[in-house]
Amino acid sequence: MASGEAAVNPNKIFVLTGAGVSAESGLSTFRDTGGLWTHYKVEDVASLAGYERDPARVLEFYNLRRDIHRDVKANPAHEALGRLQRAWAARGGEVTICTQNIDHLHEQGGAENVIHMHGELGKVRCHDCGDVTAADGELSLALGCVACGRIGGLRPHVVWFGEVPLEMDLIYEKLAGADLFVSIGTSGSVYPAAGFVAAARSGGVPTMEINLAPSENAQLFTFTRYGKASEAVPAWVSQLVG
Ligand code: OAD
Repeated sequence: MASGEAAVNPNKIFVLTGAGVSAESGLSTFRDTGGLWTHYKVEDVASLAGYERDPARVLEFYNLRRDIHRDVKANPAHEALGRLQRAWAARGGEVTICTQNIDHLHEQGGAENVIHMHGELGKVRCHDCGDVTAADGELSLALGCVACGRIGGLRPHVVWFGEVPLEMDLIYEKLAGADLFVSIGTSGSVYPAAGFVAAARSGGVPTMEINLAPSENAQLFTFTRYGKASEAVPAWVSQLVG
C-alpha cells in the first residue's frame, strides 16, 4: 500500500475509468501505440460533422466496434470493482463507477448503476427525436426509429467530440459527496473527465491514480499505483475489502 493510503478510510468512493481498464479484455485504447486514434481520424468517425458528411462510414466504424465488443469478457479489474461496490454497499457506503468507456464490461463484472458518461455502444439514438433504445443488430441507414418512425436517423448512442457528455449533473453530485476519488486506466487528456481529479482535490478529497504509467495529470494525485489494471485494481480492492 502506498504511504499514507492506509490512513484514508473512505465511505463514498468515486471511481472514474477509461480505456485502460478494458485493455486486457482485448479492447483497444485510443492514444497508446497502435490505439484506435492512430488508425482513424477522430473528426471522421467520432464527430457530428463526420456523421453528417458520411453517416454510412460512421455506422460502419461502430458496427466494427460492436462486432469486436460482442466477444469480449470482463477482466479481473472489472470484477474487483464489482466486488468493491457490493462490499461497500453492505457496510453502508457507496462506490460510484463512472466510465468513459462505451463497453458493458463493468456490468459484466458485477457493477451496478454504472454512469456511462460517453454513452453506450449497445444503444442507438434517433438523430431527430432523441429517443434512445437498445440495439443488438447491425446499424444501417435503412433502420427506422421506433418512437418517431423516421428512417435513416439512428446514430450510435455515444458522445462525439464537441458534444456534452451524459449525466454531468449526477456526476458532479457524486463527486462532491465522495471522500476518495480514484482514476483507473485513463490518460487524463479528454475533458471534462480529465478535470475530475482537480475538482476532487479542490474539495479536499484524496485522489488516487491506478494506471499502466503516469497519466497527464499524475502530479494531481495523492496516491499512485502503476501496473496492469488486471493486477493493480484487484490488489487495491483486496486491501480495502480484506
Ligand atoms: P486513452 O487511450 O487516452 O488512455 C488509456 C490509458 O490507459 C493510458 O494512460 C494507458 O497508459 C492506460 N493503460 C493501457 N493499458 C492499460 C492496462 N492494461 N492497465 C492499466 N492502464 C492501462 O483512453 P482514455 O483516457 O479512456 O472518448 O480516453 C478518453 C476518451 O478519449 C475516450 O473515452 C474516448 C477517447 O477519444 C470519446 O470517444 C468521446
